[in-house]
Amino acid sequence: MKKDFLTLFSLEREELEWILQRASQLKRARQEGRIIKTLEGRTLVMIFEKPSTRTRLSFEIGMYQLGGTAVFMGKQESQLGRGESIEDTARVISRYADAIMIRTFGQETVERLAQYATIPVVNGLTDKYHPVQILSDVFTIIEKLGKISGVRVAYLGDGNNVAHSLINGAAVFGYELNVATPEGFGPEREIVENARERGGKIEILHDPFTAVEGAEVVYTDVWVSMGQDKSDLTPFQKFQVNGELLRRAHENVMVLHCLPAHKGEEIEEKVFEEHAEEIFTQAENRLHVQKALLEYLILQ
Ligand code: CP
Ligand code: NVA
Repeated sequence: MKKDFLTLFSLEREELEWILQRASQLKRARQEGRIIKTLEGRTLVMIFEKPSTRTRLSFEIGMYQLGGTAVFMGKQESQLGRGESIEDTARVISRYADAIMIRTFGQETVERLAQYATIPVVNGLTDKYHPVQILSDVFTIIEKLGKISGVRVAYLGDGNNVAHSLINGAAVFGYELNVATPEGFGPEREIVENARERGGKIEILHDPFTAVEGAEVVYTDVWVSMGQDKSDLTPFQKFQVNGELLRRAHENVMVLHCLPAHKGEEIEEKVFEEHAEEIFTQAENRLHVQKALLEYLILQ
């Protein structure tokens, strides 16, 4: 039976670990200039209902590097924009392609797509989750710190898609997660409870200083996500990742940002530049991890 990647719980931990190992091999191969064409003749269709730089490029280039092809399908340029259903779109693409990646608003849209598609579906971000981002971020943390279980991670900012997948990731990979958001912008309670039931060590806080105390990784994301309308960012100001806050973290703290960044808002420019190597390696790793994910889903 085909497998999808709609949340971090869509695959077993062993499968995710296999993907991370494979990503490591693919990264090394690329650094050594070795060409690996395991997806020759295969096609990925990428549906976008929101903008993207990294997700589009890393999936598209990843398919090309593996010998396959990627087809971009924007909502407005396709019949989706004129009301063709996601169920019919799923069935049509399944007759042509080998996998679908979708970036959209509702998680239910991705679920319906996966239900009607006979080929693997990958969630490239919804309002609720961003699983490919966090899978790749786990790879980046392991690469730098040599481990993931027990690592102390603090997330500051809005408690939406990236925070939700980070919460799921705590349950799967065993890092200890503090999430600090302004009041009223916390993660969905159901997501937190479910991750805790699965063994996740997760604290939800409203004090950024407490959250980053001793943190080995400090993670942030934009305050205004795609599709959101926030006119007043005042409640977010004290959650900015800046030098003052980072003094409370581990002395070798790793700073991650899924990007795009709004410097001067969620992250101080100086901190961003001091940690630019980590942040852009984080962006790079999307390519290697998603190549491994596509191989796993398409070839299994
Ligand atoms: N981090 C991320 O998903 O970036 P894009 O929105 O550019 O794809
Ligand atoms: N939370 C952000 C993530 C961007 C990759 C958004 O949804 O816009």
